[in-house]
This record gives sequence, structure tokens and C-alpha cells, in this order.
Amino acid sequence: MAASDGSLNGNGAHPPARDGRPHTPHIWQPRHMRYAHLTGWGIRVPDRVVTNVDLEAVVDTTDDWIRTRTGIQERRFASERDSVTQMGFEAARAALNRADVLPNDIDMIIVATSTPEDIYPSSASKIQNLLGATRAGAFDLSAACSGFVYGLNMAAQAIRSGSINTALVIGSEVNSRVLDWNDRSTCVLFGDGAGAVLLEGSDQAGGFMDAVLGSDGSGAELLGIPTVGTATLAEGRQMHKLHMDGREVFRFAVHIITESVRDVLEKANLSLADVDLIVPHQANQRILSAAARNLNVSEALFYSNVHRYGNTSAASIPIALYEAEREGRLKPNDNVVVVGFGGGLTWAAAALQWQSMQEKAPKGLAYRLSQGRRELQYIGAFWRARAMKTYRRVEAALRGSPAKHANLREGTPPKGKPEEAPRDKR
Ligand code: COA
Repeated sequence: MAASDGSLNGNGAHPPARDGRPHTPHIWQPRHMRYAHLTGWGIRVPDRVVTNVDLEAVVDTTDDWIRTRTGIQERRFASERDSVTQMGFEAARAALNRADVLPNDIDMIIVATSTPEDIYPSSASKIQNLLGATRAGAFDLSAACSGFVYGLNMAAQAIRSGSINTALVIGSEVNSRVLDWNDRSTCVLFGDGAGAVLLEGSDQAGGFMDAVLGSDGSGAELLGIPTVGTATLAEGRQMHKLHMDGREVFRFAVHIITESVRDVLEKANLSLADVDLIVPHQANQRILSAAARNLNVSEALFYSNVHRYGNTSAASIPIALYEAEREGRLKPNDNVVVVGFGGGLTWAAAALQWQSMQEKAPKGLAYRLSQGRRELQYIGAFWRARAMKTYRRVEAALRGSPAKHANLREGTPPKGKPEEAPRDKR
């Protein structure tokens, strides 16, 4: 190769450096592949239970209609104190306790949500602050009800590549704040809550196996929540209110669960007979029954708690995982498929081995000590946040306003003589 750019000589080798020593370019080497294990899980759902009968008082509906069309019996609605951040934080705390991991050890926090308090800052950054996870990167992920599985895949791949070791993936939603109470076909379906899982890297085989992610934006108008960037609202839409074409979404959901479960099993080199439990996004019992029929498996293979919580969007799968484990439906080393679908349109399925990493230690004195350290870190995080706010205020007061500094820069008009606005020369 010609050495016209001076980097390589005619043989394709780097020329010697000026001091005569041979030039050895730095070549980045990928770290060795690791495994990403689920080691912690936790949930937080609001205390307020709203039954179908409660809804009869405010919407033209009946308990019987909701039960027979969806399987939903009740859902949780957030109080004024509940938020995506607060519920996500509490679910994360429970997951850290389960895994016996300190907030300081977290490298990445991903929050899947469609109902954050702010477009930014992200809920993930706020949860990072509450946890005192000072080493963690944090971001929110927008993939509607598929968001948790998207996040799980992102976190697991970062761990498998060796880029990070410990990640929190949270799904948290306050759907009750975006419901259109004049649309009875949607407002009866949704609920609020949060679930979190902790993933940890290990050389021990197992954990997250494979995933398929998908999107078809041609169906974007079928399900959504218009927000600040909307220039003109489409007819019948309201800002910050959920709208949905139920029948179309129903058809899509049944088809895509069937397809993506098949696809992820093929990718992970598993068959349906190897699967101990499918934990789908909890939207409607009829969707799950139809998908089970399509896959030719018993409906019992699909875990469901939709009757208790309704559709909690990105939170539904981590809440379902937590409850499935608590009910004894998930045992160590079980093969699980999680599958999400929703607005976008988006879908995602992942195959994992449940609780496949050896437990750290029996929950004795050592566990109680690290539990104490976790609590101290949360208290420390609270005071650190206050101290940082005060520090910023004091620093700003001492330095003065940025405008004052701007005057010192070359070309800035001196104080008291504001620059004239350009005149129209006509
Ligand atoms: N209570 C009583 N009647 C209701 C009602 C309610 N809450 N909502 C709708 N209806 C009525 C409709 O007005 C319609 O009445 P009509 O026949 O007099 O016009 C009738 O029930 C049937 O409506 P339809 O939309 O055909 O019902 P459906 O069997 O398709 O069920 C959904 C509606 C929304 C339950 C169903 O389409 C669904 O579950 N879709 C998927 C939603 C979903 O899971 N989305 C989230 C994906 S992440």
C-alpha cells in the first residue's frame, strides 16, 4: 500500500517513529464475553385499588363488560405522592435488596416509561440520585409497552460485552394521569405501578440468552400519547391523553406475540417444549388466550395477573415476573420467555434462564450489614443532593452571572451600551 498519507509504508506496515523506535499502534480488543444474570427483582404498586364496580360510577360501563372483554377486575391508581420516579425508586430498592447489591455498584440505570414527570430530566437520572448510584449512567427509554424488554436487552448486551457489570432495568408508569375519561374503550384498561430487575455479569453460564426487537412505524397512529412536540393535533386527539384503535391493536398483539415468541426461541436454539413459563405484557386476557391457541400451547404456560393490575404498560412484565416468582411459578434455572408489544408499533421478546447464578450468601448477618449500608447510602444520597444544590447556589453567587463574564470577552459591547438590533436597510 502506498504511504501517501504517511501512516503506512509500502508494505502496509507503520513507519518507525521519529525517535527510531518501532511504532506499535494501539488496537482495541473486545473484552471476553460474559453472561448477564437476573439477580434481583422488586415492585411497587400504588395502594389505591380501583375495581370495575368503582369505574361504573364514573364511566358508562359495567363490571361484566370489562371482565368478559379483557379479564381485568381491578387496577391500582397513583395517589398524588406516587410518581414514575418514586415508584421506580422503591421497586429498585427492593431489587437491590433481593440481589444484595449496593447502589454504588450499579453501572447503568434504564427506565422504560411513557408517563414520565418530565420529557427531561429523565426519570432514570432522578432515580439514580435517590439511590445514590453515583457511578451509574442513566437514561429513559421510549418503546411504550415493549420498553422493559428493550431495556433488558440493552442492559444484558452491555454486560455480555464486558462494557459494564451491573444494571438496573425499571418499568414504571402512571397511566391514570393520561387516560381520557370520555373514551370508555380505553380508560377501563390501564393501571399504574413499577417493577425493576437487577442484572449482574458473571463468567458462570446462564441468564439472558437472546432477544428479538421489532418496530413498524406505519402503525404509529394506532396507539399513542401526543405531547409537547406535536404541531397540530389530529382530530379527536387530546394533548397528553392516550388514544387507541383497540381492534387493530388487538389483532397486531395476537399476531406479534405468536411470531416473536417463535423467533426468539429459534434464535436461542430452544423449542416451546423447553419453555417453563411465558411472561407476556399484560394487556388483555383474550389476547393471551388467542396467542396460546396460535402457538398450540396450554394457556397456563402464559403467566397472567392482568385481572389484578390491568395494563401497566412498561411496568407490566417486571411486575408479572416478580409475582410469578412469589407464587412459585418461576424456579431457579427455569427457561422463561418475556414478550412485550405496544405503541410504535413496537415488539420485543427475550429468552432467559431465571435465577441461574449461585446465590451470594444465606441472608444472615452479612446480608443485614449490607442492608444497613444500603439504607445509609439512601440517606447519604438525600444529603448529597441537598449539599450539591447549596454548592451550586453558593458558587453561582460567588462567580456572578454569566453575562458579567461575557462582557470580558473580546468583541462584547461594554456594559451600559446594548448592541443595536440590525436595522432594516430599505
Ligand atoms: N364498557 C361498555 N361498553 C363498551 C366499553 C366499555 N368500557 N368500551 C367499548 N364498549 C362498547 C363499544 O361502544 C361497542 O358498542 P357498539 O357495538 O354499540 O358500538 C362495543 O362495546 C364493542 O366494542 P369493540 O371495540 O368492538 O369491543 P372489543 O371486543 O374490540 O373490545 C377492547 C374492545 C378495547 C377491549 C379490545 O379491542 C382490546 O382489548 N384491544 C386491545 C387493547 C390493548 O390491549 N391495548 C394495549 C396494547 S399495549
